[in-house]
Parts: sequence; structure tokens; C-alpha cells
Amino acid sequence: MFGCSDNKVYKIGVSQCSQDDWRMKMNDEINREIMFHEDAVVEIRSADDNNAKQIEDIRYFVDNDFDIIIVSPNEAAALTPIIKQTYENGVPIVIFDRNINGDSYTARIGVDDEGLGKSAAHYALHLLGSGAKAIEIYGLKGSTPAEGRHDGFLKEFETNGGVLVASEPGNWNKEDAIPVTDSLLRAYPDINLIYAHNDRMAIGASEVAERLGRNDIKIIGIDAAPNIGIQAVADSIIDATFLYPTEGHRLIKTALSILKNEPYDRETIIPVSSAVDLSNADILLRQNETLKEETQKMKILKAQIDDYWAQHSSQTSLFYASIAIIILLFGVGFLLLRAYWQRSRHQKELMAQNRLLEEERDKQKQLNEQLQDATQSKLMFFTNVSHDLRTPLTLIAEPVAQLASAENLTPQQHTLIRIADKNTRILQRLINQILDFRKYENGKLNLKLTEVDFNKTVHDWMESFYAIAKKRDIKLTLSASDPEHPLPIALDLEKIERVFFNLLSNAFKYTPDNGTITMSYECDGDTLIFRVADTGEGISERDLGNIFDRFFQVDRIHPKGSGIGLSLAKAFVELHGGTISVESTLNKGSVFTVSLPVTHVSGDVVCPEKAIGRNEVTAELDTIETNLSFDTEKPIVLIIDDNKDIQKLVGELLNDNYNIITATNGKDGVKMAAKYVPDLIICDVMMPVMDGMECCRHIKEEISTSHIPVLMLTACSMDEQRVQGYDSGADGYLSKPFNSAVLRSKCASLITNRKRVKELWQSHIAPHVKTGSEPSARKNIPTSDIDDEFYNRFLEIFKAEMGHSDLNVDKIASMLGLERSQFYRKIKALTNYAPVELIRRLRLQHGRVLLTTTNKTISEIAYETGFSTPAYFTKCYRDAYGETPSEVRSKLTK
Ligand code: FRU
Repeated sequence: MFGCSDNKVYKIGVSQCSQDDWRMKMNDEINREIMFHEDAVVEIRSADDNNAKQIEDIRYFVDNDFDIIIVSPNEAAALTPIIKQTYENGVPIVIFDRNINGDSYTARIGVDDEGLGKSAAHYALHLLGSGAKAIEIYGLKGSTPAEGRHDGFLKEFETNGGVLVASEPGNWNKEDAIPVTDSLLRAYPDINLIYAHNDRMAIGASEVAERLGRNDIKIIGIDAAPNIGIQAVADSIIDATFLYPTEGHRLIKTALSILKNEPYDRETIIPVSSAVDLSNADILLRQNETLKEETQKMKILKAQIDDYWAQHSSQTSLFYASIAIIILLFGVGFLLLRAYWQRSRHQKELMAQNRLLEEERDKQKQLNEQLQDATQSKLMFFTNVSHDLRTPLTLIAEPVAQLASAENLTPQQHTLIRIADKNTRILQRLINQILDFRKYENGKLNLKLTEVDFNKTVHDWMESFYAIAKKRDIKLTLSASDPEHPLPIALDLEKIERVFFNLLSNAFKYTPDNGTITMSYECDGDTLIFRVADTGEGISERDLGNIFDRFFQVDRIHPKGSGIGLSLAKAFVELHGGTISVESTLNKGSVFTVSLPVTHVSGDVVCPEKAIGRNEVTAELDTIETNLSFDTEKPIVLIIDDNKDIQKLVGELLNDNYNIITATNGKDGVKMAAKYVPDLIICDVMMPVMDGMECCRHIKEEISTSHIPVLMLTACSMDEQRVQGYDSGADGYLSKPFNSAVLRSKCASLITNRKRVKELWQSHIAPHVKTGSEPSARKNIPTSDIDDEFYNRFLEIFKAEMGHSDLNVDKIASMLGLERSQFYRKIKALTNYAPVELIRRLRLQHGRVLLTTTNKTISEIAYETGFSTPAYFTKCYRDAYGETPSEVRSKLTK
């Protein structure tokens, strides 16, 4: 009863045709029975004796998916179609109480109505004997119980002597029964029995009989519902009633059997029981009371069981929930523990990592400190060295400066002393800058403010730069917003002059000849702004951010300064409470802007002496001119170096014995070499535009210059770079700083080697017959492939053209693709002969071969070898070989 494995809950619909005590009793039974079936619910609807409403109720059950419909049809004819249709659509139908036409139902539970009629007739005859004369209050035309009750009564009654005088429908209710009874009693005053198809109509008839004073008439009803029929009998309102069984429980059981596919009876006709009259009415009523009480108790019990069951289920749920919570708690506890373990493990790991990091940090800190110490020590060292250098440098600078102005020096001595003077000044400036910068970094650099007229001061400063600007064709302009009026401002003049000098020197260093440099300034009362703009090579965006950093250099390979000038300028400007900034575009130029707050100090405006004079500008930016004479007797040396001072120094060292020409980069060097075909080239490795290696390669690949020895002169002394140098064709290598004697000796040896080669050529071309020496084989002369090739080509041209007496140098030079002078120098450099001389000697050499190996006449030989006359041939031959061609012939014929 409580356990149900199938969760399906069946929906049972009960359609009652009416609502009265009999049906209430039945509904109670239905509800009581359903209490025992947890797998089923029931809904009871009443049609209130209305066919249309009952059709609606049936549709409602169908639409709401009721599993089975139990129907007590109001009228058979009216309800049969809907019931048939529903049944045929597959919904199980149980018909009870009243029937339909046909058998379109699943099961039917009815009562033996005819038997009921018979029992009523039998009882009436028992009361009244064969003289019984009755009227019948009929149920409802078209409702099947009424038909059965009528037929059974009539058959039994009239068979046994009773007479049924009239029968009229009371439609199963008291209200309709009263007027019908009234008219029948008035029509048939002699009847002694009223047979009503139910108790309600019987009670109505009893009221009418009483009203008409016919208490003698016996009244029989049907149903025996306790509160109406049995009570009416107990109260002597009617004489007897017959139990019309309700059996609501049977309906539910049958319905569930159908639904669960259990066996059931399709047709159940409940037999009738005996009459209820005064003899048993009380007892039945009491029984009914007892039943009611029991039912009530059962309901209470059921409620308690439900309650208990609910409690049980909630406790079960609670139990399971508790177990779930306990499991959950265990789970959570486990997770917490695990998290705790993991956390402590992580913490340990983190602590270990932290320790490592801390150690690392400490190490880093230590390293940093060491680095800082090292940097400080280095800077200290620089400072100390700078300090130490300053005094001796001053002691050098002074005598050098005095020597430079001496008048009894040779030009060469003068040039050398000027180089020394210039570089001493540069060194002095650098050392001063380093010392100033250190002071600034240590916070010991103080301002010595004096009130100056900035207009005048700037003009003075600019003066020092005009000469170098003119020399380099640089347009140097000064532009001021108000140049006419004094512009008083308190400045540490020495420092701001240094700023100005550094900015302007930089502009000159990075601006090519013919460029423009503009110094402009303006003052708005509070701030003085001055700008130095140039049309130089500019600074890349990457370098702009570092340009004011200490020791930062834009071009590390070809530095044009120490990298301290701009950072010192910044320091000086900031000491004044000002700012310095730069804007620049590569290959277009740069603009440096200095902003200084305009302040004043008491006292007159002073015009101090310039600290930086023309000499310092010259030392920084100018080169020293020399007046070297070109001596045709001396070999030519080409010096290729971007540092003009090195050029000058090397030039001075070699000037005695060589003619010196110079170039400032590889490209110019190659051009100069081709133009002048020097006897030796001294070449730096690291140079702008074209470096030394490439320059050397070009020289060695070019016919006109390939024979020239090249001496690489460089600061790079690594073996690998030497190898590179030799690979590019260099003949010697000398590292800077070099010893002047070594330089001279290297140059001399390279030129001597070259000379030896030339002598070999000479002996090859013109062996003197008197010496008896034979021409040396040309393959023994150390030459380069390119020189060999050149000479072979020359020989080919010569042989082909030899017979023409007008064959000249110009013609051969142009056939070789060279200029006359280049050809001349090349031939001279290779063979030590001028081309004209060489051609003549080669003609004679060939003539000598013809004389000794052929029978050709002397005249023939003279013309064949390109001499204009045999006499001239003879003269030249005798000059060269010391005998005439005829003498050679006569010797041979002897
Ligand atoms: C109730 C009732 C009963 C009668 C039955 C016949 O509605 O009128 O009094 O016995 O119906 O179907």
C-alpha cells in the first residue's frame, strides 16, 4: 500500500450526472478507496442533471489526459455519442449506475434495476395484498435505471394482482415529483400505493399525500441513502425503501485493474438486497453512524500515517542529507587539509625561492656596490690622472706656444710645432672638462655669477668662429630678436661660454662644408632662450635620448669628441636652473635649445675677457696648412687618413724624402691614386665613406694603380685585422701609435722593393750586350697578375703596331684604356723606362733578333721594327748595343 515501485500516478476522472445524497455517499466511497492507492488520483465532476454539461465534463477529462473516465450518463441517448467516441479514441471508459445505448465501454458496473422493481412490487403486494392499486413516479425518461425499475415492478405487481393505474416522470427529483403526484392523486383518488423510483421523489409524494389527507397511502422509494431514504423510513415519512448499492470502492478497483492490465469483469450487475422499513431502519442508521465514525477514524489514522510517513520521509531525507553533509564535510576537510599542506609546501618553496632571491639580490647589491666602487675608483683615477696631467701639460703648453711663435724655424719645424700646440690645447680642454664634470657630480661645482650684457657677449663669442666658417664655406649667422639693446643677465660666464663653445663646435664638426649654422636667441623677460641650429648629419631617434649622457658618442667608430662635452653643457645649464634640449632629423640637421632663467646680481654689467679664443677654436676645428713643394726627383707618397692631424704628422715625417699628397677617406684616396699614380700609399683602416680595406682592394684591382705598394696604418693591431689587410692586397702593416723611424724605414723598404722589381724589368727589356748578360726571364720578376696582364697587353699592341714609325705613346695609352699620364706613370713605375724609351728599346731588341736569326737586309729590319730610316736604326742600335747592325752581320758571316 505504501510501497510503490512504479512512479506512474493514474488520473481517474469521475463524471456524475447529478449531485445528491446517494451520489455524495458514492463519492465518499470513491475518495475513501483512493486513499489506499497512492498511485492514483481522482477528480469528480457533477453535471447537475444536464446532458450538455456532462459532455463538457467528459471532454475536460480527455483534454487533461486522464487515464480513465468513469461515467454515470444522465440520459443514454444524449451521452452515448461522446462516450463512444472517447472510448474508440482509446480512453478506457467505465459506465456505472445509468447505462448508454450499445456497449462502447471498457467495463460497466450496474445494479439489477429490474430486480429492484420486482422487490418493490413484491413488498407492496405483501403490504396491500392483491387489492393493491398504485401510481408510479417514474425516474427520467431515457435514463436506463428508470426503465428497469418500471419493467420489473410492472411485471411483478400486475402478475400478482396489483394494478398500476398511472406512471408519470418525476425526473429523479422531489420538485418535479410533487406536482406530478398531486395531479395523479387527484386523478386517481382510489389508489393505495405510490411507487417512486427514488427516495427523494417518494418524500415529495409523501408530502403531497399528507397535504391531501391521504395518510393511508403506502409509499415506497428506492436508494436507501442513510440521510434521506433510511431517515425518511425511520421517521415514517415513507414506508419502505430499497438499497440501491453505491459501491464507489468497486469503481476505483475496476478502473485500476483496467489501467494496470489486471483481470476485471467487463459487466458487473450488483444484485439487490431486501427492503428497508421500520423494522431495520434504525439499525441501518446506527450502522451508518458507526460506519461514519469508523470512516472518520480511518481518515484520522490515514492522516496520522501520512503525517508519520511524511515525517519518516523527511527524516529519511534528513538522514541522507546528514550523510551527504558529513561526506561533504569530510571532503571539504580533506580539501582544506590538502590545501593547507600544499600551502605550507608552497610557502616553504616560496621561502626557499625568496631566500635565493634575497641572496641573489644581496649578490647583485654587492656587485652593484663593487661596480659603483669600481666606477668611482675609475673616475677618481681619471680625475687624479687628469689632475696629474694638468700641471705637466701646462708646462708643455707654454713652451710649445712660445716656440710656435718663434721666427727662426724652418717651415717644417713650424708645422710640427703648431700641431703640438694645437693638440696640447685640445688636451687641456679635455682635462678641464673632466675635472669640471667630476666637480659637478660631487656637488662641488659652484656658480660665479656676474651681470653681463648677453647681446655683446654673444657677439664676442661668435667672432672666434667666423674664420673657420669662412674657410669651410659654412654660412654662420647670428640672429637676435633685439640686438640693439643691452640684454643684462646674471651668468657664470665661463660656464655658459663653455656651453656655447661646445654646441657650436659640435655644429661645425657635424656640418659639411657649404652648410649653414645659425645661432639665435631671444628673451621674454623671464627666460633667455638660445638655439644653435645646423644643417649637419643629424642624430637618429635612437641616439637622441642619450645624447646628454656622460661619455655617450653617436658614432663610436669615428668619434668626433670625448663624449663629455654635451653632458657637461647640460650640467652647466642645469646649475643655472635652466634646461637644454635637442631636436634632430637624420641628414637634415639638429637644433639645440638652451633656456636660462633671467636673474640679476647687484653690481655693474661687466665685460669680461673671453675664456675661449680663436686659438682654441682653431685647435678644435681647424687643420694646419703646410706648404710642401713638389719635387720631381722624389717619390710620391699618398697618405689616406680621415684624421687631418695624422695626415700632417705622417707627411711631416716623410716630407724630407718624398712628395706628400693626402686624402681624407678611401674613396678620395682611390681617385688620388689613379690621378697621381704615387710610388707608395699609406692608408688608415677605419675611415668614413670607404674604409682602408676596400680602398686597398680598389687600388690593387685598378690597372693604373695595381703596382703601387700600400702600407696600412691603423690603430687596430689584432692579427685577424692584419690578415684582412693583407687579403685586401696590402704590402705592409704598421700599427698606431707608430715609431717615426719604423715608419720611415717601412716606407723606404717598400719603395726599394718596388725599385728592384723595376730594375729586373729593365734588365729584362734591355740587356746590355757588352756585359754579355742575357735577358732575365720575365717570370722571375715578382709582379701581380694584373700587372702581368697589363704588360702582355702592351706587348701585343706593340708587336702589332711596331712596323708603324708613327706609333706613339698616346696611341698605345688609348688602346689600353688609360690616360697618357696614367700610362706614362704605369710604364715608368713598372719598367723604370719612360714609354718612348721603352718602345725604342723593344724595337731594337726585336731588330737584334732579326739580325741574328734571319737573312733580312738591315734596311728591311729597320723598317720592320718601325725606324723611319735605316740610318736612324743604325745610330740607335750602336747607342744601345755598342756596335752597328753591319758589324753584327759581318761577325755572323765569319
Ligand atoms: C441519484 C438517483 C438515484 C437513483 C439513481 C438512478 O441521482 O436519482 O436516486 O437511484 O439516480 O440512476
